[in-house]
Amino acid sequence: MTMIDDSTPAFLQGNGRPVTEERTITDLTITGSLPAELDGRYVRNGANPLTGKADHPFFGDGMVHGVRLRDGKAVWYRNRFVRDDDVAAAKGLPPAPGPRHGMGSGVANTNVISHAGRTFAIVEAGGLPVELSDELETIQYSNFEGTLPGSFTAHPKRDPDTGELHAVVYYWEWDYLQYLVVGNDGRVRRKVDVPVPGKPMVHDCAITERYVVLFDLPCTFDVNVALEGAFPYVWNPDYGARVGLLPRDGEASQVRWLEVPLCYVFHPLNAYETADGRVVLDVCRHPKMFARDRLGPNEGRPTLDRWVLDPSSGKVDTECLDDRGHEFPRHDERRIGKAIRYGYTAGLADRLGVGPIYKHDLVKRASQVRLEGNGRAYLEPVFVPRTPESDEDDGWLLAYVYDAPTNGGEVQILHAQDFNGSPVATIHLPQRVPFGFHGNWVPDLT
Ligand SMILES: [Fe+2]
Repeated sequence: MTMIDDSTPAFLQGNGRPVTEERTITDLTITGSLPAELDGRYVRNGANPLTGKADHPFFGDGMVHGVRLRDGKAVWYRNRFVRDDDVAAAKGLPPAPGPRHGMGSGVANTNVISHAGRTFAIVEAGGLPVELSDELETIQYSNFEGTLPGSFTAHPKRDPDTGELHAVVYYWEWDYLQYLVVGNDGRVRRKVDVPVPGKPMVHDCAITERYVVLFDLPCTFDVNVALEGAFPYVWNPDYGARVGLLPRDGEASQVRWLEVPLCYVFHPLNAYETADGRVVLDVCRHPKMFARDRLGPNEGRPTLDRWVLDPSSGKVDTECLDDRGHEFPRHDERRIGKAIRYGYTAGLADRLGVGPIYKHDLVKRASQVRLEGNGRAYLEPVFVPRTPESDEDDGWLLAYVYDAPTNGGEVQILHAQDFNGSPVATIHLPQRVPFGFHGNWVPDLT
């Protein structure tokens, strides 16, 4: 059992505390009625240090939690460590097969996706994807059949028209950002290296119909901090802040850079082009990152902002859409890169306390909040359309929930159009799911 004492940092307390047991449960209790249309897995990844200790909230070993839904039933809940080299050694298991990239133990703790019929735990900043079985066991490290030039990212964007993944990759040894397209065969088919003046932390990207949106923001690699063994990306306001529009079929020399306000963005909600050639980019904007608190994110409330980029004039119009503290923005991913009306976020006002979720109507400029209170916190909400043809917002929001009073966990399923109504169904889990990072619904297409 992990011991909590005075030296335990806040990010490892409460629901930041790792879980230790890998469990498989097949007799789950359900409240309400699970929609029969939900046939697939809802999987989620996060940092969960096997030793119970970690130097930074981003560094812990990955653990993937998942529920398998089918025919209106919850078939199983499982949680498994992603078997990086430290986990393998600690458990007396052989290292996972496959290649390695960069330094460290190959942690893959940030997101979990499905592509080309395979499931991958993924991470940024140098680590390779780890392929998992449908039942979340580690199979191997993957460089996409030898086609990845370096490493990968935690936030590829799937083009809903082609099914291909678009990704922006960074690594501390590189003086460029690397744009990749991963084809439907699971192999990288395109690579563009875009030079940048420093070594920025680039957590995510966005796409539109014609562009990939690059973030080049003032949180940059500091070799002296790295040599001290601390988290090496720090606030660097002298670096400036800009976003780049790289034509998806273009070359690095064609990037149109536009200056944006000094800030840090982990996650865009979405981006799209307007009829007059501008790009609308909605983001969760942090005032700073890793400035006073190296164990952040903790530099003030992130706001949901809209940036309208005009590539012809270079002008950027900015607007705060909602200032209540938002992160983990999601939307109907059949509309990635296209105009959207609805977005969903998790509250980040108090990451160890009660956590609401929000539904944003970007046309009416109105937001709804769902706050259960009583020590209950939502993790990132994920939208699942009711049918492939159903309208935007006609579907379910799936979210893992932490219930502090019982130290328990749930998966809650809401109808997105009845955002403050009773849950359609609640799956009661045998243990809590730590706050972690990101998850996805993986429909069963077989
Ligand atoms: Fe993220």
